[in-house]
Amino acid sequence: MRYLGGVVPFSNLNTPFSDIMALITLPTPFPISIRGKAIQNTIIYSITIKQYAIPRIIVSVTIRTGTLSRFHSPTPLVSIETGPYKLLQMATKVYIVYYSMYGHVEKLAKEIEKGVASVEGVEAKLWQVEETLGEEVLGKMGAPPKSDVPVIRPNDLGEADGYLFGFPTRFGGMAAQFKAFFDATGGLWRTQGLAGKPAGLFYSTASQGGGQETTPLTSITQLVHHGMIFVPIGYTFGGGMFEMENLKGGSPYGAGTYAGDGSRHPTDLELAQAFHQGKYFAAIAKKLKGSH
Ligand SMILES: Cc1cc2nc3c(=O)[nH]c(=O)nc-3n(C[C@H](O)[C@H](O)[C@H](O)COP(=O)(O)O)c2cc1C
Repeated sequence: MRYLGGVVPFSNLNTPFSDIMALITLPTPFPISIRGKAIQNTIIYSITIKQYAIPRIIVSVTIRTGTLSRFHSPTPLVSIETGPYKLLQMATKVYIVYYSMYGHVEKLAKEIEKGVASVEGVEAKLWQVEETLGEEVLGKMGAPPKSDVPVIRPNDLGEADGYLFGFPTRFGGMAAQFKAFFDATGGLWRTQGLAGKPAGLFYSTASQGGGQETTPLTSITQLVHHGMIFVPIGYTFGGGMFEMENLKGGSPYGAGTYAGDGSRHPTDLELAQAFHQGKYFAAIAKKLKGSH
């Protein structure tokens, strides 16, 4: 696969625009895709070519503004000679975004990160969402200080090709801190900026029956409204899915752990399942990016 990158100055539009899609005209029907970012009146784009020896391609561009309205360039904007362009290797980016009050979900997230990074050509990045509770309440709840994993802003999501979202359960559903994060993604929802991108879920509960399945199941609505593609792990983890001797979190929905009274930590089997989820998901995100 070959990647080309470049910059197109675009002077016909005087309003800022946030997203870009491109229609490609090719001399022959080679598979190709383009992604871009618009900054003021300049489009920074990258083109993926799955076949070598394409002599010349012509690109015309559709601009999406903050609303769903579109501007379509009437004529091809740019004609690109493929030869002299520097080839760029662009990795598939997977963001692992989580909330963790006592560290259980964070441990799963770090193992998932390793699994994602184990797939060639895929980059993993860990993020946590913003805390919504004040220091006093957190102190009363016995929450330890947060780790130094960076806090994500909703718009950061747009940069990734796939997402693994993790949270502890609260009364059988997603923790409010993570819901608050999703509630702040209205801008991305309006432009459907996450539509077509894959997303997986992982989680922690205190007890059996406390939400190992309801927590991910009830969180799928967030993905659906954004048009994301839910990627469960199914039974791809193999024999470990059928463990009956020892307590084991997780399910076909995704990796999971039991915190118990807080003193139980993810077991080796739960961590192996988390690694598996990262690896399995990364391979799918990579395939989907290739087919854009
Ligand atoms: C308000 C509240 C509600 C909770 N509800 C549930 C629940 O319904 N089922 C359950 O098993 N655990 C419940 N828990 C326990 C948390 O899920 C547990 O602390 C968490 O999984 C630990 O993950 P963390 O270390 O990443 O924060 C609840 C905790 C709080 C504070």
